[in-house]
Amino acid sequence: MTVLKTERLLLRQATVDDAQFILTLLNEPSFLRYIGDKQVRNLEDARQYILNGPVASYERYGFGLLLVELRDSHTPIGMCGLLKRDELPDPDIGFALLPNFWSKGFAFEAAAAVLEDARARVPRVLAITFLDNEASIGLLQRLGFRFEKFTKLTDEGVQLRLFVRDTTQL
Ligand SMILES: CC(C)(COP(=O)(O)OP(=O)(O)OC[C@H]1O[C@@H](n2cnc3c(N)ncnc32)[C@H](O)[C@@H]1OP(=O)(O)O)[C@@H](O)C(=O)NCCC(=O)NCCS
Repeated sequence: MTVLKTERLLLRQATVDDAQFILTLLNEPSFLRYIGDKQVRNLEDARQYILNGPVASYERYGFGLLLVELRDSHTPIGMCGLLKRDELPDPDIGFALLPNFWSKGFAFEAAAAVLEDARARVPRVLAITFLDNEASIGLLQRLGFRFEKFTKLTDEGVQLRLFVRDTTQL
């Protein structure tokens, strides 16, 4: 099911059939370093992650991390979408691409479509990054997010940067 379409990309809901791709993406060194270790080590873990993560979010909120595909070949290249975390007051945007597809503007294109779609849903979108995630911080700034403050998701958690984008000004 295609949810969003851009010039070069399709964003669609993830299904358990995407388990192999998710297994690869979630074990990329960049994903482990800048997002975290989801403990997805085999195809069954990946299927459980998809069902308990993105699919549960679609059902509960009507949005969630979407699978990003190249429009022409349907090659999966990453994930991008809105998340709703108990620790944050508003949805936050998430994105991760396989390194082969970095530096081509695909993350910007996918995230811009997610933000445009968010307009109808929420008045503002948040984003959190590790302090040293320069690629993500640069992308958020190009998307019109502004840095709001340093924060933590939990008392024991690491320091993060919190960014905000007012969707009414898109
Ligand atoms: C964060 C992440 C998705 C950013 O990917 P990206 O490819 O750098 O992001 P963009 O789509 O904005 O691409 C920008 C680059 O594409 C280039 N580009 C090429 N064609 C372009 C086009 N048509 N439009 C825009 N930029 C284009 C830009 O010049 C820029 O190049 P540079 O990175 O060499 O400066 C990627 O680094 C990633 O997956 N990281 C791991 C996961 C992660 O950290 N997620 C975020 C957690 S908070």
